Amino acid sequence: MKIYHWAICAGIFWIPILSGCKTSESKGEISLKKSLEGKFLIGVAVNDAQASGQDTAGIRIIKQHFNALVAENCMKSEVIHPEEDKFDFTQADRLVDFGERNKMVVTGHNLIWHSQLSPWFCVDKDGKNVSREVLIERMKKHIHAIVGRYKGRILGWDVVNEAIEDDGSYRKSKFYEILGEDYIPLAFQFAHEADPNAELYYNDYSMSHEGKREGVVKLVHKLKSMGLRIDAVGMQGHMQMDFPKIEEFEKSMLAFANAGVKVMITEMDMTLLPSPKRNMGADVATDFTYKKELDPYPDALPDSVSLAWNRRMEDFFKLFLKHSDKISRVTIWGVADSDSWRNFWPIKGRTDYPLLFDRNHHPKPVVSAIIKDAVDENRSN
Ligand code: XIL
Repeated sequence: MKIYHWAICAGIFWIPILSGCKTSESKGEISLKKSLEGKFLIGVAVNDAQASGQDTAGIRIIKQHFNALVAENCMKSEVIHPEEDKFDFTQADRLVDFGERNKMVVTGHNLIWHSQLSPWFCVDKDGKNVSREVLIERMKKHIHAIVGRYKGRILGWDVVNEAIEDDGSYRKSKFYEILGEDYIPLAFQFAHEADPNAELYYNDYSMSHEGKREGVVKLVHKLKSMGLRIDAVGMQGHMQMDFPKIEEFEKSMLAFANAGVKVMITEMDMTLLPSPKRNMGADVATDFTYKKELDPYPDALPDSVSLAWNRRMEDFFKLFLKHSDKISRVTIWGVADSDSWRNFWPIKGRTDYPLLFDRNHHPKPVVSAIIKDAVDENRSN
């Protein structure tokens, strides 16, 4: 009945939207979140200019189109726990309040990660690795303090981020150096102790790689066999125009779902700039030298490039709609193109176009295409 009602409403507003009229959109009759209702949450990474109310154009889009949010940076250890005895919850509190005020589902990103890691976390005053016991205690304090503070207000946490390499082996991070494989189950255990109702996730990039796919499936089985909670695997989804193949991404989605967890696309964006490597991954430490030929669209985008980008982005969403029974959330890594980290990663100072809304905060054609695909699917079901 609800779907039928929605289909009729969508029909009424359809023509003005497809022809680019902004009035019906700004009234909020139709939006990504409305059209994807019952399929999966549609989330967005939010920065402090948005959570603090400064970026009014960005906030308008967030409120209209998204029903979930995640912190782009403010819950990472270097921000939230800058010194061993000092937490700074200023921005994270703002973000959670913003989410609640706007009735959005809030997820926490992230608890244990080798990047944007507070410099003190794994070493002593002389810069030497701390002992096993000390690191376990530090992880426990970190996770308990943060998860405990937002208990009941955050649906779930990216407990561990980027622990598996493309070949399926463990990343040789400081956590691994000191604790070996144990650090992952320990992190999940501490997060569960701090908020037994919170969902717990493992999150990573380049998930379409066969090796990583198998490594992550193995990890899910391991956590489950230890009796630990793991609700979903987050596939970051920092896409390129020529990588990954949609079929390879699909294989990984199915492999994770078969391992008995939900799938989330947690950091969706798609660069259309030339990549220095075929598969860039998403290691935030990557930093290639700027070259003009790698920054071909500083002012505007040729129509043919824009068309190809919109098509491929729609194809990914078609895949997500096809498997919506397995997917709990799709999150876009930023609001408008000007907000995106892709403008400074993997090369600083380029102009990229990776998100669903352009620099003028206008929706790209793919937004109405996704809405139409979702509505068409509701009609056919
Ligand atoms: C990025 C942010 O978008 C940037 O603002 C920051 O400078 C670096 O990190 N994988 C992740 C995200 O899990 O947290 C990263 O976010 C992108 C790669």
